[in-house]
Amino acid sequence: MQEIQSRSASVGLGHYQSYHQNNNGLEIQTTHGVLRLTLYSESIVQILASRSSLKEDFSYAVVGTPRLVKFIINENNDSLLIETSYIRISITKSGSFISISDLDGTIINEDDKGLGLQWIGEQINCYKKLQEGERFLGLGEKNGPLDKRGRGYINWNTDAYAYSPDADPLYCSIPFYIGVHHQKTYGIYFDNSFRSQFNFGASNNRFSSFSADSGEMKYYFIAGSSVAKIIDSYTYLTGRTPLPPKWSIGYQQCRYSYYPDREVLRIAENFRERDLPGDAIVLDIHYMDEYKIFTWDKKHFPDPKGLIAKLKALGFHVVVMCDPGIKVEPGYEPYDSGIKEEIFIKYPDGTNYTGQVWPGWCHFPDFTNEAARKWWANHFKDYVALGVDGFWNDMNEIATWGNMLPDLMQFDFDGRKSTTREGRNLFGMMMARSTYEGTKNLMKKRPFNLTRSGFAGIQRYAAVWTGDNVAYDGHMMAGVRLVNSMGLSGLAFTGYDIGGFVGNADEKLFARWLSIGAFSPFFRGHTMINTRASEPWSYGEKVEEISRNYMKLRYRLLPYLYSLFYDATKTGMPINRSLAIDYTFDPKIYDHQYHNQYLFGPSILVAPAESNKDLLKVYLPEGSWFELYNDHSHAGNQEIITDCPIERLPVYVKGSAIIPMRKTAGNTTKDDGEVLEIHLYKGNSDNDFMFYEDDGESFDYENEVFSSRTMSYTPQKNELILNETKGKFNSSFKKLVIYFHGFHNLNEVEVNGNKIIVDYTEYRFVNPISNYDPVNVIPEGPKINLPFITTAYQKNKIICTW
Ligand code: NOJ
Repeated sequence: MQEIQSRSASVGLGHYQSYHQNNNGLEIQTTHGVLRLTLYSESIVQILASRSSLKEDFSYAVVGTPRLVKFIINENNDSLLIETSYIRISITKSGSFISISDLDGTIINEDDKGLGLQWIGEQINCYKKLQEGERFLGLGEKNGPLDKRGRGYINWNTDAYAYSPDADPLYCSIPFYIGVHHQKTYGIYFDNSFRSQFNFGASNNRFSSFSADSGEMKYYFIAGSSVAKIIDSYTYLTGRTPLPPKWSIGYQQCRYSYYPDREVLRIAENFRERDLPGDAIVLDIHYMDEYKIFTWDKKHFPDPKGLIAKLKALGFHVVVMCDPGIKVEPGYEPYDSGIKEEIFIKYPDGTNYTGQVWPGWCHFPDFTNEAARKWWANHFKDYVALGVDGFWNDMNEIATWGNMLPDLMQFDFDGRKSTTREGRNLFGMMMARSTYEGTKNLMKKRPFNLTRSGFAGIQRYAAVWTGDNVAYDGHMMAGVRLVNSMGLSGLAFTGYDIGGFVGNADEKLFARWLSIGAFSPFFRGHTMINTRASEPWSYGEKVEEISRNYMKLRYRLLPYLYSLFYDATKTGMPINRSLAIDYTFDPKIYDHQYHNQYLFGPSILVAPAESNKDLLKVYLPEGSWFELYNDHSHAGNQEIITDCPIERLPVYVKGSAIIPMRKTAGNTTKDDGEVLEIHLYKGNSDNDFMFYEDDGESFDYENEVFSSRTMSYTPQKNELILNETKGKFNSSFKKLVIYFHGFHNLNEVEVNGNKIIVDYTEYRFVNPISNYDPVNVIPEGPKINLPFITTAYQKNKIICTW
């Protein structure tokens, strides 16, 4: 081996020489370099290797710190062994190859012995043995199937206008993936922002690998008994989605662009007149004076304050477009002050980089420079004073006409100094960070922040949407998978442009896209300049009714959905959950006819159907399932065929589910009403749901002004318990209605010892669609004959038995 290495043009770490133990791990000297292992927990280890000396540990992505854990080191003739209470890491003395196993010795992940770490000039590479049947999940905003085995990907943030559903790279880089094989799961986060490549067995049958053009070979290995635990650990490292303002998870209406102000108002009024729920109007680039950030077009928006006040009176929040390009124009304040404060990205000779984007030739703030971040953050004062609550960070890959950002631009890296090569993939995240931190500080309440570009950790600062998608079915499905994939990679708050950004949707496509989008974390309709109007009413009455149904269903689900967002702040669990999270080892879920299916929260299974389909094959995984609209029950582990007329998206609810809902759909996310509904689905297994409420906009919840309670269903005891609420927030709910799905012949329920007679009602989750056409009559659609009880909603424990 030594001989081969010396003849090879790439170089590995060489052989073990000595080691030195420290508080969290150890450092190993090898013949060609140094290898450091730092334990962040029993199951997370940072692996850092260098061919020279190790530098200070710096990362914009990682915010988690090592926790002190017990470990032992053993040495034998062949290897060094480091063992925690969860994993064993062994490093071979010959070649310094790493393998990680559980304590029984079953391999979880191992270097390809022969390749391991390799330096090819500046390029660093890590080769892992491809395990039999190994699957690869995640890697953030990446196209392709759920299981990415056999594919290769590049991380290089790119303005991917009208990308194909197979294109790579897109706007975000999240160099984190999850491996699955032999009932084992693990995660690898490669903490390197240079252009990187991941190979999951593409063009070879020997290895999976990750590599970067330059920088450090630093990765985190995460072991975990489930995909959910790995996401938890990964988001321990890179942070979690903060609780968004509640309005931002309502429906947002956008287009490129609504103007003048009268048009914006007309759109908002339409929502109210047509009884369509909505919480935000998004202003794209035309609100600005010649696309210059921090200005308003005086002709079309002479009175932004007045407009925003009128929109607020209608219950709408305003989100504004924020592009990073600062027009080169003496007299334009951001240009003048930016020049004065020296915050723009520079060439090595000290001149500012100039690239072309919407406003023309522009400079760009260096968001890796603290002074630039502060400068940018302060510029949001005026927006905040006008009442803007949402900020949309766009074109931050950085997008410039020509798409050829020079490599030699200088990035400050908070004093560490680097170039585009390391900075490009971070630019979007650092812009989002600066916007988020700045507006949070100015608003003193939760800002909504959206970004197109990002890197690992972006979830701490912004929601992410999938950029410039195209109006056709295949793209709609690709968007569903992108959101699922981002969810596997720590991003809980994500979505896509409903209706498609590029091109024109037809009636069916829009209706279907909106129905699916109602079950996505970020729920926004958007379309490009010069396309057909794309509001829910723009496609005729039938589509408007379908849209209303699904928008209202989402609004009714808010108690469930908002609780899920709270859960994401604690565990990193996404809202849209790829079936790979709960059914990791079920091969069927990876089948391409089913890999678009996902769980919306723990209990609602969505089977996205293309708009031109009337029938759909659905795979119901293990457990028992109810059809949402009629409560027909199905055993799990089977494929079924369902009809999927355009007015009904196939949705299933898991047996034992507890789903809190509002009775009223309301116009906005604020109108909770007084009645809390709980939909309980009969099942065989115990189930808990953590129900969370707060004021939806302030940070008071950090001082316990929230209300949370666990709801527990125990089938064996015929019992549903709502535990006493925790926290100081007073819920607006006064009445509780519990619907019992799948419980037949239920007559009486005892609530805290008092007998309540069960009532029955004809229940519908969506309303029948009107018959506009006497020939093609639309059937009324299913309803459920549903038992329910009504009682008072109270903070104290509520015990229901039957
Ligand atoms: C590109 C964004 O992806 C798109 O959503 C937006 O409408 C345009 N920029 C114009 O601002």
